[in-house]
Amino acid sequence: MRSVDKVEPADDSLRGRVALITGASGGIGQAIALALSREATVVAIAYGNQRQAAQNLAKQITDSGGRAVAFGADLGTSDGPVQLIQEVEEKLGPVEILVSNAGIGKVCKLEELSVEDFDHTLAVNLRAPFLLAQKVLPGMGERGFGRVLFISSVAAFTGGIVGPHYASSKAGLHGLTHSLAARFAPLGVTVNALAPALIANTGMLPGEPEELSSKIPVHRLGKPGEVGDLALAILSNAYITNQVISIDGGIYPR
Ligand SMILES: NC(=O)c1ccc[n+]([C@@H]2O[C@H](COP(=O)([O-])OP(=O)(O)OC[C@H]3O[C@@H](n4cnc5c(N)ncnc54)[C@H](OP(=O)(O)O)[C@@H]3O)[C@@H](O)[C@H]2O)c1
Repeated sequence: MRSVDKVEPADDSLRGRVALITGASGGIGQAIALALSREATVVAIAYGNQRQAAQNLAKQITDSGGRAVAFGADLGTSDGPVQLIQEVEEKLGPVEILVSNAGIGKVCKLEELSVEDFDHTLAVNLRAPFLLAQKVLPGMGERGFGRVLFISSVAAFTGGIVGPHYASSKAGLHGLTHSLAARFAPLGVTVNALAPALIANTGMLPGEPEELSSKIPVHRLGKPGEVGDLALAILSNAYITNQVISIDGGIYPR
């Protein structure tokens, strides 16, 4: 029988690793940051405009014994994402877990959608996740550990109710996931996307909760904590990569 070199299992624990969560001043990002802080990761909480919300979350985490720092960045600009990574790495060390969650979704019909709104949506929802991943992935590969999770939307599958700018920006994240995951899988780096739908207590609900609930097979909105728990499960599992996983109360497929 051919002898096989003993391979030591990689340390896949998230404990003590630096996790950057964009859009952590908002509903889903906050829930993901809290879930990661339960695993004793060092949490970089990125915000756009809501500095106070981000600082409050950082305080909540540090008050309960964790480590968290808030960082501001406009991810709609071409240099914002790169500057954000530089600031986080100067303060906390290399980003080992990236949750690219910040997003926008102004409800707009095809006929009324301006070029500016289309471009801005693509810049925040797709270009920024690409730039963030481009900046952190080489280091993750060199160190032999990394996690990248893009927060997409079920709208990428169904078209959704926000508009073509939003659905296409999120569908772009799925292609980005597949392109990056294949290249980095042998290096201990997973790349996945999570596609939620209609999550309560967020700034991105495209309508009234009661009316929206009636459209969901489980007849209720999702909870941010349910998304946070699933994100943590994906990030904790070294054998899940190249996947787009929905959390949508049964909306897709139907
Ligand atoms: N809620 C849902 O039902 C739902 C469904 C499917 C997918 N999603 C996705 O989930 C993600 C999180 O959204 P959410 O539902 O939690 O909504 P949210 O509460 O409105 O949070 C959005 C976050 O994105 C940040 N952001 C927006 N534009 C930014 C920019 N230019 N620069 C930096 N940060 C920016 C916001 O920061 P500031 O507020 O600090 O500016 C905020 O933290 C989004 O990608 C969204 O598309 C949500």
